[in-house]
Amino acid sequence: EGTLQLTRTENSLRMESMKSARKAETGNPGSDLSEQIKAATKENHVRAENTQLMLSYQKGQITLRQYKVLLCSLYEIYKALEEELDRNSSHPAVAPIYFPQELARLEALERDLEHFFGPDWKKKVIVPAATHKYEQRLRKIGKQNPELLVAHAYTRYLGDLSGGQVLGKITQKSLGLSGKEGLSFFSFPGVSSPNRFKQLYRSRMNSVELSEREKAAVLEEAVSAFELNIQVFDDLQKMLSVTAETQSQIPAARLPSSPIMQF
Ligand code: HEM
Repeated sequence: EGTLQLTRTENSLRMESMKSARKAETGNPGSDLSEQIKAATKENHVRAENTQLMLSYQKGQITLRQYKVLLCSLYEIYKALEEELDRNSSHPAVAPIYFPQELARLEALERDLEHFFGPDWKKKVIVPAATHKYEQRLRKIGKQNPELLVAHAYTRYLGDLSGGQVLGKITQKSLGLSGKEGLSFFSFPGVSSPNRFKQLYRSRMNSVELSEREKAAVLEEAVSAFELNIQVFDDLQKMLSVTAETQSQIPAARLPSSPIMQF
């Protein structure tokens, strides 16, 4: 069974690269979901990379406060995403792209949060409005349109396996973290080659049977998924700049003890 599956995967990878070679020759954009979703979200990816938060990341200027609030939001997002994927794991549009062993991030995020916030981290997790909105969207499609989950899984997991790998190294350097403590989120012990895994994931996405209508809805959902991420980043940035101002204007002793002040 294992060998058979591997052979099938290898065959589909071979077919995939033959198809891309043909496309490169003819210049056709192709009808595979993996190509269409990449093309459909190209501009959104550029916008996501250019949010203030991601720009400070790329400049190596991420602060501990930024990283801690980001981890809180990622925790809420992956909790919803992975619970919905688990619940729908045998749905025909989810099963082919269901890779909990290789991809699941929830436990890694719990370890990172515990590292930074201590054993009672759960009480300290804050959920800004945009993060809550993202989470609600995931819950809703998990219940009503599980075939759209592929758009969200793609946006997060393929991002984590791409630019995310560089961001992990930057985080470690910027925060002066020694070893892997607090950085579990970026590490995928079940994925030995991110590039090969991404190819496998793309071929699995392409094997999902979708009507034209459903396919269009998946592409639209992927654009929304990027936008929800952008809103989360902007929200975090805004929240942090407000608290930074407050902190510089009000004497520390008079600060209200809102959860935000823990950052
Ligand atoms: C792919 C960089 C932020 C989602 C990639 C790739 C790079 C990259 C270099 C590989 C492109 C390729 O293989 O053709 C970055 C950088 C970021 C960033 C530097 C920010 C500093 C994001 C964010 C998201 C995201 C915020 C979504 C939440 C993706 C996805 C892919 C990807 C889904 C896979 C595209 C595909 O092959 O279909 N990114 N990225 N990225 N990124 Fe990002």
